[in-house]
Amino acid sequence: TDPALIRNFCIIAHIDHGKSTLADRMLQITGVVDDRSMRAQYLDRMDIERERGITIKSQAVRLPWDGHVLNMIDTPGHVDFTYEVSRSLQACEGAILLVDAAQGIEAQTLANLYLAMNADLHIIPVLNKIDLPAAQPEKFAEELAGLIGCEPSDVLRVSGKTGEGVRELLDHVVASVPAPVGKADAAARALIFDSVYDTYRGVVTYVRVIDGHLSKRERILMMSTSATHETLEIGVISPEPKPSELGLGVGEVGYLITGVKDVRQSRVGDTVTSAAKPAGEMLAGYEHPKPMVFSGLYPIDGDEYPELREALDKLQLNDAALVYEPETSAALGFGFRVGFLGLLHMEIVRERLEREFGLSLISTAPNVVYRVIMEDGSEHTVTNPSEFPSGGKIAQVFEPVTKSTILAPAEFIGAIMEICQGRRGQLKGMDYLSEDRVEIRYELPLGEIIFDFFDQLKSRTRGYASLDYEPAGEAEADLVKVDILLQGEAVDAFSAIVHKDKAYGYGVDMAKKLRELIPRQQFEVPIQAAIGARVIARENIRAIRKDVLAKCYGGDISRKRKLLEKQKEGKKRMKMVGRVEVPQEAFVAALSTD
Ligand code: GTP
Repeated sequence: TDPALIRNFCIIAHIDHGKSTLADRMLQITGVVDDRSMRAQYLDRMDIERERGITIKSQAVRLPWDGHVLNMIDTPGHVDFTYEVSRSLQACEGAILLVDAAQGIEAQTLANLYLAMNADLHIIPVLNKIDLPAAQPEKFAEELAGLIGCEPSDVLRVSGKTGEGVRELLDHVVASVPAPVGKADAAARALIFDSVYDTYRGVVTYVRVIDGHLSKRERILMMSTSATHETLEIGVISPEPKPSELGLGVGEVGYLITGVKDVRQSRVGDTVTSAAKPAGEMLAGYEHPKPMVFSGLYPIDGDEYPELREALDKLQLNDAALVYEPETSAALGFGFRVGFLGLLHMEIVRERLEREFGLSLISTAPNVVYRVIMEDGSEHTVTNPSEFPSGGKIAQVFEPVTKSTILAPAEFIGAIMEICQGRRGQLKGMDYLSEDRVEIRYELPLGEIIFDFFDQLKSRTRGYASLDYEPAGEAEADLVKVDILLQGEAVDAFSAIVHKDKAYGYGVDMAKKLRELIPRQQFEVPIQAAIGARVIARENIRAIRKDVLAKCYGGDISRKRKLLEKQKEGKKRMKMVGRVEVPQEAFVAALSTD
């Protein structure tokens, strides 16, 4: 295709503002999907995505429109996937900024808009859901115009649901989004903006060709790893994969298949070039995915450990950001320490392990990565609280911090500031987007955000606030490790790294929780919270002689036997911490956040 006829664009929107619905309507209006086979949310393929209504994996669809070729590139909507969003944006020249006409701009809209502006994309402001009785297009057109510096009348109005305004929007994309420019006769350079594992075909790699040309049956080179592969198939998605004999030229968006079985061999952000005539320089901005949040994952039934390993191996084929290594816990047995991009990523992985692989799991409280510098100058990277050096020779501890943006109605400013202040936040700035809506910017430790921050924010603002954050380096903090001891024995799964001012609170809460959850033993069991050798909280579980047979009256021998058997079975699920028997459920309950 002549690059002058190509328009590459994406839709950026906050969750639930209607991106998928609009995309569906575009597929239908351009005739790519006929009305009969129209399936709601065609682009969201994974079950979890559909059920939760979130888009995790970006995809690209080619839409014919008015003699032009529109490539619609789907961007993931959530903060954890900022890097993937940035790569998808890099593959485009324009972005539709889609805002719910009844809700207005939200934190994610803003974060993604900033990314799109950084990528120099042409922005098309659009209000969606104008069919809603609660829509306030005048008000929010003003807000949008103020934000991107255009006139309120430049803001398009559509309904993804009824289709109103969607044709005009497509015309507008053709008229206003710049055509791609690249060097047709230069060495090939294509940007990988997504890479998806398919059971039958292996990895499907989505690319945007910047310069040159990629063909079928060509040896290609992945520039970040220097690995070479052969393109077995190359083509475009419209809406199903359509192989192309001509390959892909400048400005085109499509997919290629090389037969590799692991997405780590075809990484988002990498540059594909020709092995025979490689480009001199790769495209800018490649980053290795970096896990930010770690948690221990253990099978509730210890026998399922091999299944858990196998499941993680399989998930990793499709998820280059997932990392894990085996770990053993005295309390929980054999499991894995798993690294994630963020909280949502963690939830998704957990859910897939449980749903697709039928595993029952316990996870330890998530933690971030700390950098600990000792007085002798040595340095430790801590991804697991139990590895935190406990000697007194720590000179400095660094933790990751974020640039966080919160958008909310102005009436909640006080509540939001209180939450952020309570979590060691530093106010960086505040702006009114309109009379009654503010954008509040904070520097917040990531470790504080991953600990029920969303829930707090939601409940204190009655769900009206939205949050977005991006990594912003690290900062020194006064952090300590709190251990929880049962009868003098530390229970590794409950160790946590917390700020000095919060250590006492954590210790008291944990000790109380465990006192209620752990059944009495035949001897007294002290529960202590300690920083190093210093005990900061203590509870006692009083001794009891429990006799299951006491419950039985009369001499029904079979009933007695049943009870004894039951008790034996219960014992199997007991974990020993020193001499203390702790039912698995107690750990599970103590580790669950609610
Ligand atoms: P994520 O994939 O989570 O980012 O969500 P999304 O932005 O793709 O939103 P989606 O298309 O799933 O729409 C969210 C909800 O809004 C759904 O219940 C849609 O039916 C509804 N919706 C989307 N567009 C419109 C519209 O134009 N009018 C009305 N009334 N409802 C809409």
